[in-house]
Amino acid sequence: MIKKGIILAGGHGTRLSPLTKVLNKQLLPLYDKPIIYYPLSILMLAGIKDILIISNVGERRSFMKLLGNGKDLGIKISYIEQFKPRGLPDAFIVGEEFIGNDDVALILGDNFFYGQGFTNKLNKSLRNNTGATIFTYNVNNPSDYGILELKNKKIKRIIEKPKKPKSNLAITGLYYFNNKVVKYAKSLKPSKRKELEIVDLINKYLREKKLKAEFMGRGSAWLDTGNPKNLFNAAQFISTIEERQGQKIACLEEIAYQKKWISKKNILKRISFYGKCEYSSYLKKIM
Ligand code: DAU
Repeated sequence: MIKKGIILAGGHGTRLSPLTKVLNKQLLPLYDKPIIYYPLSILMLAGIKDILIISNVGERRSFMKLLGNGKDLGIKISYIEQFKPRGLPDAFIVGEEFIGNDDVALILGDNFFYGQGFTNKLNKSLRNNTGATIFTYNVNNPSDYGILELKNKKIKRIIEKPKKPKSNLAITGLYYFNNKVVKYAKSLKPSKRKELEIVDLINKYLREKKLKAEFMGRGSAWLDTGNPKNLFNAAQFISTIEERQGQKIACLEEIAYQKKWISKKNILKRISFYGKCEYSSYLKKIM
C-alpha cells in the first residue's frame, strides 16, 4: 500500500511565459485556486498523507507560505528543491531520502484530473500496485505526450512525444511505483533533449512485466494547463462544474474534513489564513 506521494512542482513553464517569468507555474490560478491544489487533492483522495513537494531553487518558500507543514490539512508536507529541471525521474533521486524503503506515488504539479469513479480507481490501483501503475487517457494531440504503442491490445512500449504516434493513448502525469524506482531512476541516461525520461523508467517496468495501465474512460477529464489556451479552457471547465453544483473541485480542507483528518478548528484556522473571500465562505458552508 502506497503511503507517500511526491508532487513535482518545478520546471520553467516556458510555454506560459510571461505568466511564469516571476511566478512558478504551479502557483498560477486555475480558476479559483492555485494549480497545485488540484494534484494535491488527488493524492489526498488516494488517501496519501505523507507528501513531498519538489520545487525549483528559491521557490520552496512560496509553496510553504500557501500550504505550511500540512497540519491544518491533516497531512504532512515536506519540501525540497530540485537543482535544475533534469526530467521527471529526477523526482526519485531528489526525493530518495523521503522515499526511504517505501513505495511512492508521483503526480505532476500541473495535472488536472476529474471524473465520476476516479477516486475509486485511484484507491483500487493503489492497493493493487506491485510494480508500476500508469493512468492513460485518450487525447487528440498525441504528439505532445508519452504515448502507448499497443500490440494485440497489450502495451508494446511507450514513446515520449512521438512524431508518428501509434495510438492516441497518452500517459497522464500520475504514477505509482514500488521502491525499485529509486534504483531504476539512478540508472537512466539523459535523452536527446538532455532530460531523464519518465517513459524510459516505465519501460523498465514493462520489460520486467511489472507494469499496470489503468484506462481513464471518456466520462472523466484529464486536462492540460501547459499553455495559456489550455489553462483558460481548464478554468472554464472548473468554473462551469462548480457553479452548477455549488461544490468545489479540489477544496483541500473539504477533502480532509470528509476524511476526518481535521476538525472544525483546523478549518477555522484556514479561513482566517485565507481572509474574507469566496473560498472561505465555501469552507464556512461545508462546516
Ligand atoms: O502531463 C503528462 C506528460 O508529462 C506525459 O505524457 C509525458 O510522458 C511526460 O514526459 C510529461 O510531459 P511534459 O512535456 O508535459 O512534461 P513537462 O516537462 O512539462 O513537466 C511536467 C511538470 O513537471 C511541470 O509542471 C514541470 C514539472 N517538472 C518538470 C521537469 C522536467 C519539474 O518539476 N522538474 C523537471 O525536471
